[in-house]
Amino acid sequence: MLGPDSPAPLRRRQWLRGLAWGAAAALPGAGGAAAGTTIRLSHVVAPDTPKGLTLERFRALVEARSGQRLRVQIYPQGQLYGDQDEMQALQLGAIDMVAPSLSKFGPIGFPEFELFDLPFLFDSVADVRRLTQGPVGQRLLDRLGRQRLLGLGFFDNGFKHMSANRPLLEPADFVGLRMRVQASRVIAQQMRTLGANPVTLPFSETRRALESGVVDGTENPVSNFWTQNMQAVQKDLSLTQHGYLGYAVVTHQRFWLNLPGTDRALMQQALREALDYGNSIADAHNDKALAALRASGAVRIHTPSAAQRQRFKAAVMPVQADLARRIDPAWLHAVREALPPPLAG
Ligand code: LMR
Repeated sequence: MLGPDSPAPLRRRQWLRGLAWGAAAALPGAGGAAAGTTIRLSHVVAPDTPKGLTLERFRALVEARSGQRLRVQIYPQGQLYGDQDEMQALQLGAIDMVAPSLSKFGPIGFPEFELFDLPFLFDSVADVRRLTQGPVGQRLLDRLGRQRLLGLGFFDNGFKHMSANRPLLEPADFVGLRMRVQASRVIAQQMRTLGANPVTLPFSETRRALESGVVDGTENPVSNFWTQNMQAVQKDLSLTQHGYLGYAVVTHQRFWLNLPGTDRALMQQALREALDYGNSIADAHNDKALAALRASGAVRIHTPSAAQRQRFKAAVMPVQADLARRIDPAWLHAVREALPPPLAG
């Protein structure tokens, strides 16, 4: 969604293209000099989050192992590009790598990625690994090639919880609320099945929208809630653990294939280790954010009972049928094959 001061779409594309060539020309190594390569990496969350820490680990490994010949310039918190333009910037070469939420691939032509948004699909991150580290995950990454994108790997943030200025423990609690969602039709439908009104906004605009009352509530893992200081504008956090939020690291084939093979191999190994590191800290990082939130006393924290969780799960089940109408049913079949029953519903 373009903000009021954003250039119109067409001018934005020209603006991005100009920026791309301008930035490329300014980079060391442009015009043939082999002074070294700077990899420009953009993401939308704070540095002190599972995503921020994972990508920082990637940077440190790449620079150390290349003797600083390869540099990774990270632009966190949407400093350079946000939800509304980071994939376009990647396509135009204005940025070299991004790590968007899996919930943001639907609007750019990959609705199959919204499988990860299905509420209550996963009972643990171990279940997520059955997809991300198996054939379903690889087939999803391979599909990015249709737009000359290259999916380099998946990694976690964690499970999402609901926040608003009232407890959200029963489906009836959501009725009439305007809930900020990521650009995912599954998540929008999830909110509709609860009687809420989904409002798609870039992550960077979420806190301001909560503060101004444009939206009443949202969902996210605690690490994002805490690092965006959402506790200052939300009175109630309900630990619904109703859905998963993870990421994919994506580059453009043009950038990747222009790298020397030795640099690609070095970066692939560094990324593999960084993603393993990120997955090993994500749970603990979200737990640490929750502990800090509890200690701050800034928000009322509610835990739904097992019965309330069951009623919540039953209320949102129609979302699966909605997605099945939009993507090849073979995807849902493959997911059910990969996950332990009865979790796949
Ligand atoms: C969101 O937009 O809520 C999340 O995707 C932010 C992120 O990338 O973790």
